[in-house]
Amino acid sequence: MSETELAEEDYIIGTNDAELKRLGLQHTLWRESGLGVWRRAGIRPGMRVLDVGCGPGYASYDLAQLVGPEGEVVAVDQSEFFLAALRDSAKSRGLDNIRTVHSSLDAFDWPEAEFDAVWTRWVLCFLPDPHAALKGIKRTLKPGGVFVAQEYVDYRSFRLEPSEPVFDRFVSAVEASWAHFQGDPNIARRFPAWFAELGLEIDEMTPVLYAARPSDPIFRWPITWLEEAPARLVELGFLSREDAEAFRDFLARRAADPNTLLMTPCVLTSRARKPG
Ligand SMILES: C[S@@+](CC[C@H](N)C(=O)[O-])C[C@H]1O[C@@H](n2cnc3c(N)ncnc32)[C@H](O)[C@@H]1O
Repeated sequence: MSETELAEEDYIIGTNDAELKRLGLQHTLWRESGLGVWRRAGIRPGMRVLDVGCGPGYASYDLAQLVGPEGEVVAVDQSEFFLAALRDSAKSRGLDNIRTVHSSLDAFDWPEAEFDAVWTRWVLCFLPDPHAALKGIKRTLKPGGVFVAQEYVDYRSFRLEPSEPVFDRFVSAVEASWAHFQGDPNIARRFPAWFAELGLEIDEMTPVLYAARPSDPIFRWPITWLEEAPARLVELGFLSREDAEAFRDFLARRAADPNTLLMTPCVLTSRARKPG
């Protein structure tokens, strides 16, 4: 596959109706975890919060309710498709304290000391220069402001057991595509050193990893993505059609077996403060 073909893709996962729906389900399953860390971070009425890589805004809506009418959420993303969905849904939910900004994070002009809190989830892992984004995040926090992130820390903890060789080939294809787009599926491993270098003080680092069987709701989280991913990986040239077919077959058998064990890719919930 040529660089030109890849350059036409907006980002590794893609932005379309199916992804919009998948992110909605993902947020439902991860919402409790988000609400917990936002509470521990002290996010409250009147605050200004920046949602970095907000997607269709599922977290932005919750944050907008937490900060109330006297607060504001600024939601930034490079996908105008997602931002349009966010604005429509905010309107139908009666939320008028969310402002969207259409920008790639590399081009984003981080305003100085504007936000009480910055939130990001599954975004830094896709950026070619996540360190530059973190510098921007530090800059845009007010003194005493808090950065809250949920990002992958150990992608290889992802298991569907009993496993088969095609699962490892699939995960390797995912990692190869990630590397090609200059992302990092274990990005949170770099946070402690980066936070220290930037002068952010760590308040929390909590790993989040679920073990589930097909009857558990969280099983749907990776499965919805695993159902879509093979086609995307074939389209991008990282998986053969034969392996995509074999993987779909493996997945169908695992999902139909009530004794299948899913271990989710481990996420690190991180909270760090700009000294006030
Ligand atoms: C997996 S989605 C997560 C969305 C949201 N944070 C959530 O948790 O529901 C990743 C988001 O990052 C955005 N994104 C990826 N690379 C970006 C970049 N360079 N600049 C701005 N947004 C980016 C995508 O458009 C997408 O909305």
